[in-house]
Amino acid sequence: MARGIPVEKDVANFGTLFATAAAATLQLQPCSATSIIVAGMGGSGLTGQLAQALAERCGGLRVSAWNDYGLPAWADGSKHLIAVSYSGNTAETLSSAARAAELGCGWDAITTGGRLAELARQYGASVTAVEPGHQPRAALPLLLVPLLRRLTLTGIEEQITETAEILTEPVSDAVAIAAQLCGKLPFIYGASGLATVAYRWRCQIEENAKQLAVHHALPELDHNEIVGWATPPENAVIVALREPDEPPQLASRWKTTQAVAWHDVPVIECLARGESPLARWLSLVQLGDCVSIELAHLNRVEPTPVIVIEELKRRLDE
Ligand code: PA5
Repeated sequence: MARGIPVEKDVANFGTLFATAAAATLQLQPCSATSIIVAGMGGSGLTGQLAQALAERCGGLRVSAWNDYGLPAWADGSKHLIAVSYSGNTAETLSSAARAAELGCGWDAITTGGRLAELARQYGASVTAVEPGHQPRAALPLLLVPLLRRLTLTGIEEQITETAEILTEPVSDAVAIAAQLCGKLPFIYGASGLATVAYRWRCQIEENAKQLAVHHALPELDHNEIVGWATPPENAVIVALREPDEPPQLASRWKTTQAVAWHDVPVIECLARGESPLARWLSLVQLGDCVSIELAHLNRVEPTPVIVIEELKRRLDE
């Protein structure tokens, strides 16, 4: 039985959690390394994927998300690791921190505690403490904001400020979108950072609504998955996550892909709000989280428990 704050409550408070984290981490010093690996899994790991996408879009430093055991073979003592684990007890993330210590990398952790905080104490690595009591996936704003403050991404302070404002605006459309996804197989697509947001939609639909979903990235899907649409599943629905003022080649790609491959499939378009990449991407994370909760209600399931994840971790720990 899941304990703590119900996921639906945190989803409703997504903007407040972000603003609280933004206010609480103002004093956090950025890391001086120019190549940073962010290790984490699931809800915690998504922070690194978003940070990598932001670094790719905005520059400032190189960020590599790592969602596996250990560290990539190219990691050496010149790299800095930020290990992100809400519980602090995730086996893969613990092994990344242990590998960083072995390689002599600088490293620090963002966590509520657990074995990761113990390991950090043992090696003299710093820990950014996160409020306990949430589900890891619902704590995304609490984990992401301190991570962003540790990275010297171009324009990040302005982006955090704008994002805090955008996320206070009411979220519309979640009920209508959920109704269109109920009993269907959603294929969720986005480009650039919105491909990572598409992955978040998929994970939230799977974990909160207990329903399978698929995601992919434009333009990559035009070179492989598009062929599979020759025989689409009968219950397929496409969710297209888009930004205003997309580059013309991307706008043309959406239109042409729909014309050649998705002509008989319903497409739900969701447009990001705000100006900065962070605000835009998180506005659609917020919408997707709300959709997953509405879908959970329609599916008559409890959004919070993820019993099978807990059971798997317990068995692997034995
Ligand atoms: O949603 C979840 O609970 C998972 O995706 C977790 O985030 C994942 O298992 C990693 O755990 P943690 O975030 O505690 O490191």
